[in-house]
Amino acid sequence: MTDNDRMMNKTIRTLALLAGAALCAACAQHRPSTVGTTPEVEQRVERILAQMTLAEKVGQMNQVSAGGDPSQYAEALRAGQIGSILNEVDPVRINEFQRIAVEESRLGIPLLVGRDVIHGFHTVFPIPLGLAATFDPALVEEGARVAALEATAQGVRWTFSPMLDIARDPRWGRIAEGSGEDTWLDARMGEAMVRGYQGTQWDATSMAACIKHFVGYGAAEGGRDYNSTFLTERELRNVYLPPFEAAVRAGAMTLMTSFNDNDGIPSTANTFTLKQVLRDEWGFDGLVVTDWNSMGEMISHGYGADRKEVARQAIGAGVDMDMMTFGFLSHLEELVQSGAVKESAIDAAVRNILRVKVLLGLFEHPYVDAAAAQAVQYAPEHLAAAQRTAEESVVLLRNEGDLLPLDPARVRTILVTGPMADAPHDQLGTWAFDGQKQHTVTPLAALRERFPGRVVYVPGLGHSREHRARFDDVVAAARRADVVLAFLGEEAILSGEAHSLADLNLQGSQSELLAALKAAGKPVVATVMAGRPLTIERDLPNCGALLYAFHPGTMGGPALTNLIFGDAVPSGKTPVTFLRTVGQVPMYYNHHMTGRPYNGELLLGDIAPEAGQTSLGNTSYYLDYGAYPLFPFGYGLSYTRFAYSDVALDKAVYATDGTLRVSFTLANTGSRDATEVAQVYVRDLVGSLTRPVKELKHFERVALKAGESRRVEVEIPVSELAFFGADGTRKVEPGDFQLWVAGDSASGEPVSFQVQ
Ligand code: GLC
Repeated sequence: MTDNDRMMNKTIRTLALLAGAALCAACAQHRPSTVGTTPEVEQRVERILAQMTLAEKVGQMNQVSAGGDPSQYAEALRAGQIGSILNEVDPVRINEFQRIAVEESRLGIPLLVGRDVIHGFHTVFPIPLGLAATFDPALVEEGARVAALEATAQGVRWTFSPMLDIARDPRWGRIAEGSGEDTWLDARMGEAMVRGYQGTQWDATSMAACIKHFVGYGAAEGGRDYNSTFLTERELRNVYLPPFEAAVRAGAMTLMTSFNDNDGIPSTANTFTLKQVLRDEWGFDGLVVTDWNSMGEMISHGYGADRKEVARQAIGAGVDMDMMTFGFLSHLEELVQSGAVKESAIDAAVRNILRVKVLLGLFEHPYVDAAAAQAVQYAPEHLAAAQRTAEESVVLLRNEGDLLPLDPARVRTILVTGPMADAPHDQLGTWAFDGQKQHTVTPLAALRERFPGRVVYVPGLGHSREHRARFDDVVAAARRADVVLAFLGEEAILSGEAHSLADLNLQGSQSELLAALKAAGKPVVATVMAGRPLTIERDLPNCGALLYAFHPGTMGGPALTNLIFGDAVPSGKTPVTFLRTVGQVPMYYNHHMTGRPYNGELLLGDIAPEAGQTSLGNTSYYLDYGAYPLFPFGYGLSYTRFAYSDVALDKAVYATDGTLRVSFTLANTGSRDATEVAQVYVRDLVGSLTRPVKELKHFERVALKAGESRRVEVEIPVSELAFFGADGTRKVEPGDFQLWVAGDSASGEPVSFQVQ
């Protein structure tokens, strides 16, 4: 080929790209950008793209885990073979990675630096399941902003969070990383974290969110991580996809495909979810990245014969970036040259990548001020936010005789015991890579600081799995104390990725320790720190009060101290159902009615089970463990009492485009100021598909003084009652509905209304 030919080809290619850009911009004009791009950004993207060789385009689609010495990657960076790195957090090294990419490669395209900033960067917040337990999106957004401030100061501009996987199976270790079992709560938490990470405007503290794992990963068969899922399109559209759609609407810049195959198709090659739903229906114009080698794992799935084939499948499904398979880098050029893959598909992927980099301002500001980065970490206001969040994340599950809050004046000697009393690493929970345990304030440390000279610490158990026959030392100490504070639970390593459990009881001899402490005859306050709802029924009789703290993070100690001694009042609610035994899996509140309603739900004909009926007849329940969980979704006690009354709707009949105006009276009938999470559930009694017995459609945090009563009003668009029905469309189906307002998913009396 002569130089003239080459020049002609380049000119033709540039004209084609600019034409593509015009078309692309035109179609974008008909559809708002979900990531907030502008014509100026798009023109800039096109100008960069027009200069790129095929090899440079493919290089942008390659993400490398690159901790350590940047010079090891210098050759690949100079050749433009790396578009993104993950797992480097040192600002000096990140600057050097960026310097080589920006100053020593032909086009100087900066890197997208990613990291799993899952529930805080250095300042660690409660694990996401604990964040969900706050039912406080505003607070969760504040925490995500703190995480972004700390991480971006060091050069991390992309987090692989929020995880939006609905989880109904506590055996699954990654239940810790999400917002539990409910679609509505999950969506509100996802939106909050996207806003918090990315900020309300693009600036140097904006950290691109990555909604994951798309999709259905939490339904892994048997609760075993990475296992197959078998979700129908209806289940996907009514339960698993809505939180992702909400997060896309909130502006999420990126999305990650999941490891699981659903109904036989690995998510990293699923054109239905990645193209039809994500791109065509939702208009997502952000970046899609695979999970770690999830492209390569499609060979193990038996879906592609080799890396070349799975690379073709992934690009064909609309994946933009390959995390750690190197399938794109190794085979895309060849696939384009053979005609198996069109270069236009590569261009589309690179546009999505460049769009994110331009919006983040990386071309203007690829470097960080490494010297200033440290000052942001663990800032007092960050720690204060983490403590407030930890306080709101704790769920009070038991409080016999109002044992809590303890009166400091009445407890002189405090025995602190249990494997989680002084576990600075485990208290941070899973996916806390950058949380430095020396900054963790444990319950022991917080209590010693608060009550110098009054705390006796006898661990009782070295760690949660130790087997001890006798507890003479700790029982003797209990007898000499005025109160026993037992901190139990799970080591951080027992939840999170690849850490599923088939036995959800407290591990080791913890339950025996609690029984021994109870036998000592002094008041026992148990606190469980875990990454999942454990089966704690057998432990409840052995403590007067029980606080459940989903691994509460850096400031868990001060938070729990404040709660135990009444400086803070519990308001947390269970974001997931607590089972009596693991054999009940899966048991979740928004189950379907079945033809044999099994947990006392009123039948359609209002045939209520006979009062005192013990057997539920031939219905769907367990002979040995009945039909009820230990604690339902949305449950949590307070140090006061709340009473709901006069639930009313402004109409009896609504149009499908109407608005439900719900009003109710909430009274704080106790002696302490406190906050209640009032929850609104709706049931669609008859549909073109069988429907859940109830679904959360609103929650409201209501702060009331002791004795205060307030008339609360909330508005719920009738459109929120839409679902993907038998005819394959999403709409509100006219008919009869019921609505509850209560403090949890198992309480309250319904009011009826109709939609016409
Ligand atoms: C892991 C996880 C994913 C994480 C990614 C990068 O395997 O599945 O959630 O973001 O790899 O660490």
